[in-house]
Amino acid sequence: DMSEEEQAFQARVDAGVKIEPKDWMPEAYRKTLIRQISQHAHSEIVGQLPEGNWVTRAPTLKRKSILLAKIQDEAGHGLYLYSAAETLGVSRDELLAALHAGKAKYSSIFNYPTLTWADIGAIGWLVDGSAIINQIPLCRCSYGPYARAMIRVCKEESFHARQGYDIMMKLAQGTPEQKAMAQDALNRWWWPSLMMFGPSDAESVNSAQSTAWRIKLFSNDELRQRMVDQTVPQAEFLGLTIPDPDLEWNEERGHYDFGEIDWEEFYNVLKGNGPCNKDRLRTRVKAYEDGAWFREALVAHAEKQAAKKAA
Ligand code: 3HC
Repeated sequence: DMSEEEQAFQARVDAGVKIEPKDWMPEAYRKTLIRQISQHAHSEIVGQLPEGNWVTRAPTLKRKSILLAKIQDEAGHGLYLYSAAETLGVSRDELLAALHAGKAKYSSIFNYPTLTWADIGAIGWLVDGSAIINQIPLCRCSYGPYARAMIRVCKEESFHARQGYDIMMKLAQGTPEQKAMAQDALNRWWWPSLMMFGPSDAESVNSAQSTAWRIKLFSNDELRQRMVDQTVPQAEFLGLTIPDPDLEWNEERGHYDFGEIDWEEFYNVLKGNGPCNKDRLRTRVKAYEDGAWFREALVAHAEKQAAKKAA
């Protein structure tokens, strides 16, 4: 049973009152938010790598500048989220150290390679599309700084999804080779995009508590279903086939039935055995080490400024 403080805290959460950094909160609430927000931030930062692979090879200057803008947005999303995590009393260096040591997770989706330009379209359409479905509810979650960060992120994310779908339309309505590229990208990104929503509700270790604390407003399976229902008509419009023979509209349920996810693949990627896990982490560690001189210079400059002011 709950202490006085916990009861008051839960009553605020249940009443939809935002919890702010200086409010009392259960230690476990703080911990699970640091876990989720930092891993969300890591996802944004690592998520720039698969897309960065195509900046120098974008088919037109327009596509290149759109892709650069998207990657820059993702960096900003990461910074908002690290700042939101810092309000819970952790330092960015601690969070990055956990990522670089392989202790903290980031979204499994970013451990897949971007093999053709169509992948950039599929990522915008499916990955950012899934991210929006997951992030819209987070705008209403119980922790103030996280909810507020999500509002700005969701606005920029819809641009990401639209530009991705625009790329897929161009390819699907292009030459047979271009349409085949779009279909190949859909084949490779469909199932990993559904895995972004997490394990099935039955397997989800954090859902019950995160739901009680209004961090998670819809279950993993509910949001995954929303993604499938939203995306099937979009694939049909493109004349592309979703790589799931069990996909079928269920009039009774008012949703699409779909096939079983390969959970072995999911947990394998989480364990670090996905196609790109090692490469992604190596790239992040190198970037951090290569940037050390710059961080030291910033600190030295700030100390000089402070000393001048004090003098
Ligand atoms: N990739 C990596 N790890 C995953 C995962 C995935 N796709 N899905 C679940 N996990 C992890 C969870 O983090 C948890 O491990 P942990 O306890 O060590 O953190 C474990 O698997 C069990 O999953 P749960 O369902 O119990 O965990 P959660 O309640 O945290 O639910 C989540 C998982 C739905 C991803 C939730 O953490 C969440 O909503 N996170 C915030 C949003 C987010 O991170 N979105 C994906 C990032 S993509 C993105 O935003 C970039 C975009 O700009 C393209």
